[in-house]
Amino acid sequence: MKIAIPAEAEPEPRVAATPDSVKKMKALGADVAVQSGAGVKSGVLDADFEAAGATIAQSAADAVRDADVVLRVRRPTEAEVAGCKPGALVLAIMDPYGNEAALAAMARANVVAFAMELMPRITRAQVMDVLSSQANLAGYRAVIDASAEFGRAFPMMMTAAGTVPATRVFIMGVGVAGLQAIATARRLGAVVTATDVRPATKEQVESLGAKFLAVEDEEFKNAQTAGGYAKEMSKEYQAKQAALVAEHVKKQDVVITTALIPGRPAPRLISADMIRSMKPGSVIVDLAIERGGNVEGAKADEVVDVDGVKIVGYTNMAGRLAASASSLYAKNLLAFLDILVDKKEKKLAVNWDDEIVKATALTRDGAVVHPSFQSKSAA
Ligand code: NAI
Repeated sequence: MKIAIPAEAEPEPRVAATPDSVKKMKALGADVAVQSGAGVKSGVLDADFEAAGATIAQSAADAVRDADVVLRVRRPTEAEVAGCKPGALVLAIMDPYGNEAALAAMARANVVAFAMELMPRITRAQVMDVLSSQANLAGYRAVIDASAEFGRAFPMMMTAAGTVPATRVFIMGVGVAGLQAIATARRLGAVVTATDVRPATKEQVESLGAKFLAVEDEEFKNAQTAGGYAKEMSKEYQAKQAALVAEHVKKQDVVITTALIPGRPAPRLISADMIRSMKPGSVIVDLAIERGGNVEGAKADEVVDVDGVKIVGYTNMAGRLAASASSLYAKNLLAFLDILVDKKEKKLAVNWDDEIVKATALTRDGAVVHPSFQSKSAA
């Protein structure tokens, strides 16, 4: 069994393995090939991978040739997947929604593509959950970036020269990223409020010492899917919630938005009017930018200035903590690999009936097999 870790294309700084995960893959009975330079932006040198037992390949093609498993951060391009052997398993964050042509290309290349972000949210898969591992870091980094852009201190400070008031931080969307953003902002001493459309979040917000703000009507009480995600809310609810939020946002120094609905564009939560209602010097961080953004006027990988209010739109927020992000992602991959391998025989043994495998497998035997993408790719 051979496992390959190619270097990611620019500008992705993360890598799909660490020396620690290489050691564990070796223990599973695998030969591991890492492309030269793959770990540099995450602080891992070729020599570190070599010391863990990997061989260093000079090119991506050399790394993936004959590999039974290819571990990546991002979905491979058609050219990258062309070098894989037929039937190879490719594990990555595949970003499948709206990218049906790319899925069809992977099917044509006859690889078995697994989308790590489609991991079901069941207890057994928690350790493989890349959305959680990466969102947690993104939530933390959003607060750090906001504080770096903000011209004031976060905690209240009583000094001989006077008092600096605590910064008011409002978190919109209290999933994994939002919860970490609340915790981080609280640790920095900010006064934190938060909102979400899922009622279960109210208690979580309060348990972190923040205040919850939402229109708590009948629709709100039923706004969580069985899978634990948000539903798209009615136009009426959105209008009521927007009015409440608009009043609140005026008084905030920092707003961090993290609201996502799986498979849909991010909901628009902050309008241009709301931005203009904020004090100059305020900062908004839009963590949903990769999916269209929650904030009007936010631009991918830019800090936009609207009448003195800064809107931070970094994509790949987890990648801004590349070493931590790679280390957690590599553990997610390793945990998934663990269920794909027969440890006694030391070879791949995929149980195609396992719910984790079924939920994440996109392509197999030359076809798109995931029910959510099948018909669209054929069309
Ligand atoms: P997400 O990244 O899909 O969305 C972020 C947040 O935005 C969610 O809390 C969502 O309710 C909220 N949101 C959506 N539309 C909104 C709107 N219009 N206004 C305000 N907020 C809005 O969510 P994430 O972080 O993936 O978490 C979803 C759920 O899954 C959570 O309950 C989390 O605790 C749970 N979870 C379960 C796991 C497991 O059991 N293995 C692992 C990780 C998360």
